[in-house]
Amino acid sequence: MSSTTGHHPGRIGIMAAMPEELQALLDVMPDETMQRVAGREFWVGHLHGREVVAVLSRIGKVAAATTTTMLLSHYGVDQVIFTGVAGGLGEGVRVGDVVVADALIQHDMDASPLFPRFELPGQGVSALSPPAAFTARVRETVEQVLSPASLAAGGALADVHLAALQLAQPRVHQGLIISGDQFINAAQTCRELIQVLPAALAVEMEGAAVAQVCHDFSVPYAVIRTISDRADDDAHIDFPRFIDAVARHYSLAIVEALLQRV
Ligand code: ADE
Repeated sequence: MSSTTGHHPGRIGIMAAMPEELQALLDVMPDETMQRVAGREFWVGHLHGREVVAVLSRIGKVAAATTTTMLLSHYGVDQVIFTGVAGGLGEGVRVGDVVVADALIQHDMDASPLFPRFELPGQGVSALSPPAAFTARVRETVEQVLSPASLAAGGALADVHLAALQLAQPRVHQGLIISGDQFINAAQTCRELIQVLPAALAVEMEGAAVAQVCHDFSVPYAVIRTISDRADDDAHIDFPRFIDAVARHYSLAIVEALLQRV
């Protein structure tokens, strides 16, 4: 029997960073009911026959950590899938590409000189990683969803007009995503981040917090970010248009495919 709390094998938590992404999900969920907990609206229902709890992550590390904790502790989800957008940092990480995190660091964590810069105090590491096999499955699925063949086939992605948006065929990257309580929109700040964390592919405001909570609960998680901007001086201009034209469609297609694979 299922209830709304406790442990449920196979229940999946879906965290969306943007309201447009969440709405796209709710539009295809057949039977969701809303529960308000901790000031958040949790949508409990099904998608492709899987039990899911969908929720807006809220912005920033603390908000995202609280939302994640509720998914794990109150709703007992076994996996967390996070989708959203991010600023591209790595060379060759272009607007419209997708980054799957295999490591996450809080770029604004700094308890030096007590602990090395970026290290999570008490945990002895700065980067957290989801299980490698889980990440590999997620990455393969995202590659499949965004392959030239599936983009041409339409489906959930029929409304994404890459050429009209002057976007190339999306590339899927796997690597380090860094998170901090700061929207980065200055080329100088990007250079500083890349200098101290040269492996960083993308920067956003929640992923590493989600990772820390999932790590504490030993629950696998995926952080999947579509690149909306290059975190430079134009970042805030590109952002809203991109979510509407591209990111919400990618997120939905990716989540739908993942539910059939993970
Ligand atoms: N999310 C999307 N773009 C971002 C940026 N430039 N900085 C932080 N978070 C983001």
